[in-house]
Order: sequence, then structure tokens, then C-alpha cells
Amino acid sequence: MDKVRVGLIGGGFVSNLHAEAFEEVAEAELVAACAVEQKQADEFARKWKIPFATADYRKILDRKDVDAVVIGVPNHLHHEIVVAAAKAGKHVVLEKPLAHTYADGQEMVNACKKKVKFGYAETICFSPKYVRAKRLVEEGAIGKLYMAKQGEKHSGPHADWVWDTARSGGGAVMDLACHGIAFCRWFLGNPKITSVYSHMATQVHGARTQGEDEAVTVVEFEGGAVGMVESSWNRPGGMDDCIEVFGDKGQTYADMLMGNALPTYSEGGFG
Ligand SMILES: NC(=O)c1ccc[n+]([C@@H]2O[C@H](COP(=O)([O-])OP(=O)(O)OC[C@H]3O[C@@H](n4cnc5c(N)ncnc54)[C@H](O)[C@@H]3O)[C@@H](O)[C@H]2O)c1
Repeated sequence: MDKVRVGLIGGGFVSNLHAEAFEEVAEAELVAACAVEQKQADEFARKWKIPFATADYRKILDRKDVDAVVIGVPNHLHHEIVVAAAKAGKHVVLEKPLAHTYADGQEMVNACKKKVKFGYAETICFSPKYVRAKRLVEEGAIGKLYMAKQGEKHSGPHADWVWDTARSGGGAVMDLACHGIAFCRWFLGNPKITSVYSHMATQVHGARTQGEDEAVTVVEFEGGAVGMVESSWNRPGGMDDCIEVFGDKGQTYADMLMGNALPTYSEGGFG
């Protein structure tokens, strides 16, 4: 099988994770790298042994030897680069959050539809403990689901642009709850969302951002199940990412980063 030739657009935190992951993927090779400054692009390309580096993402889109791009740039650039990549006929994998607005997101989906594959890189639906929790549900362990909860909390973003709402598009909800909302939707079997309520507050970082740094978001789904997502940039001491899921025959809990078990109560048994 021919390898998929990939261009990485973005050379920061998340693109380093993508580059590391690509080392494990035999069916793909990294052929081009891009960062906002040529020096950073060169350093990134040298580190990951990528033959071409540029500070202009359009030069990646112009290349015939690029089949797909993986985009890991500040959020305000997602829309422009996805639409340009689709026009250039490149398949796209995009980091979260999708877009600043629903209209932008819709335009990105439409630009890719029929022309190229468009992958939204939601990570936590692939976390082994959360995948195991989903399998427990599929084995009938906790019956009919009526509530899924997820929380992601840490001490705040590492990059300055995330604190700037013009570039990030928002605060902790845009940055973190996008994971939780995607998790609840996936966990509950992708039902349509019927309502969203988010209580947002800026508790600690008002001098640094206009965005909320603390939020509780409640999402109602068709069929009546509820998702509850807690997001915080105010928890020093490391990252906390946990789920709780409830059904009419039991419940299960998982902590992504600590311990290795899923405490579960099941009336019917499983596995
Ligand atoms: N899935 C996750 O858990 C996760 C984690 C972290 C970040 N992210 C997402 O990844 C994206 C990048 O975040 P990050 O933490 O890597 O940020 P970062 O600041 O570490 O890196 C951003 C990179 O984008 C590059 N860049 C900026 N403007 C550019 C332009 N015009 N053209 C080309 N490159 C440009 C910069 O040079 C830099 O290398 C964001 O959308 C963020 O939400 C996702």
C-alpha cells in the first residue's frame, strides 16, 4: 500500500504529539512541516526528520507530494486553513475546537464534503479507560444510560494565544468543554443535542483573559439523556480528567490519568 504523505501545519505543543504519534504509523510519512516563523519550522522539521519546512502553509497545500494535512494551529486560523486545504484537494485532520462559530464550522464541513476526508481529532474518545467504559455499556453493564459526565481541569493554557479570546474564540468552554461535549455525545450514541446551558465565570484569571476560566455546562440530548461537563483553568497541581456514567442498572467511573481500574456497580454483570 502507498503511504499517506502528510504535512503538519503548526509546530508547537500538539504538533509535537502528532509527529511522535506518526512515528508509530507505518502507513503514513511526514513530508512537510509549517510554523509561523521559518526558524521554528526548520527546528521542528530537523527534530522530526521532515524534509520540507515553511512559514507559509499555502506552500504545503501547493505540493503534489502532500496527500493530507494535520492542522495544529491557534483556533482563529482553523477555518481559513481547512477551507484552503479542501480547495487544494488535501485531506484534513483538524485539532479541536472545530471553529469559532457554527457558521464557520458548517462552511468547513461543506468545503470538505465530497472533495476530501475531514477528520476532527477529538482525543478523549480514544482514551483507553474511556473506551473500556463504553465497552462496559455495550456489554449491558449499566443498562439504559441517562447521564454522562466529564470534567477536564488544570491550571490553565500553556500558550499565550489561548488567553486571548480573539484568537482562541472563548475561554475554558471553547478550550476544554469541547472535549466533554464530544465525549457525552459519543458515549450516548451520537444523539442530537436539544439544549445547552453553560454557567461561566471568571474566578481567578480576570487580569489575564476576557474568557471564562470556570464553567459547568449542561447538555440535553434527544431521548432525554443529559451530559454534564465541568471545565476549569483554576486547578493547580496537574491535570484532572474524569468521567462518570449512569444507567438504570448501574454506573461506572474512570480517571484518565490516575489508577488503572474503573469502579463500577452493575446489576447485571458484564464481560
Ligand atoms: N487535543 C488536545 O488535547 C489538544 C491539546 C493542545 C492543543 N490542542 C489544539 O491544537 C491547536 C494548537 O495548539 P498548541 O497547544 O499546539 O499551540 P502552540 O502555541 O503550542 O502551537 C501553535 C503552532 O501554530 C503555529 N502557527 C501559528 N500561526 C500560524 C500560521 N499562520 N501558519 C502556520 N503555523 C502557525 C505556531 O508557529 C506554533 O508552532 C489548537 O487548536 C489547540 O486547541 C489540542
